[in-house]
Amino acid sequence: MRNIRDIAANMVPPGVCYVEPFGGHAWVAKEVCDSQKGKATTCIIGDINPEPLEWVKTHHKNLKAILKVQDWKKTVNEAPADCVFLFDPPFQVAPVIPGRQPGRNWNYNYYPDIKEWCDRTKRKCIVNLPNSRANLYNMVKPLFTNDKRWKCIEGEKIQKGKKPGAKDLHWRYLICKNF
Ligand SMILES: C[S@@+](CC[C@H](N)C(=O)[O-])C[C@H]1O[C@@H](n2cnc3c(N)ncnc32)[C@H](O)[C@@H]1O
Repeated sequence: MRNIRDIAANMVPPGVCYVEPFGGHAWVAKEVCDSQKGKATTCIIGDINPEPLEWVKTHHKNLKAILKVQDWKKTVNEAPADCVFLFDPPFQVAPVIPGRQPGRNWNYNYYPDIKEWCDRTKRKCIVNLPNSRANLYNMVKPLFTNDKRWKCIEGEKIQKGKKPGAKDLHWRYLICKNF
């Protein structure tokens, strides 16, 4: 099953400067910056909350990245000119689970601002959209899929019901890029 980490790592051209302004626990960045697939020369990870980045320092010790505790706009505006950007903002309520769910600051639709920034810049951007189980899915999806400058990859995921007789969970996800 391909997921955001795998897809992102394959979308990011090798040998570039990689910026993830909603970096969280840096699982995606780790795939991009560490892996053979999307090798990045410089890796910049921002997050407004210090807790996930503290977690990154102790759990991804081999990840060579510049960590910045700050709002996403500051991270993108101060990034070097030749960077590729990956946006993975929060889109639903989620409890904080260290290493899995950074939580907090979910209660805002970041996507219109992100898209506006990406459309203005000449640089390569990748955006992970809300999945089909999230309330924002129907609002955000057309913003990207109706704009011909953006190419989206859709996938689906089925998670087996955990208890006997429980229904399987089924959802779609969408990752879009402007290059
Ligand atoms: C979905 S998570 C990112 C997960 C990440 N891609 C990973 O691989 O672990 C979204 C992150 O955005 C952060 N965030 C929320 N509002 C923000 C803002 N205004 N600026 C920067 N980061 C923000 C949250 O703290 C959270 O860690």
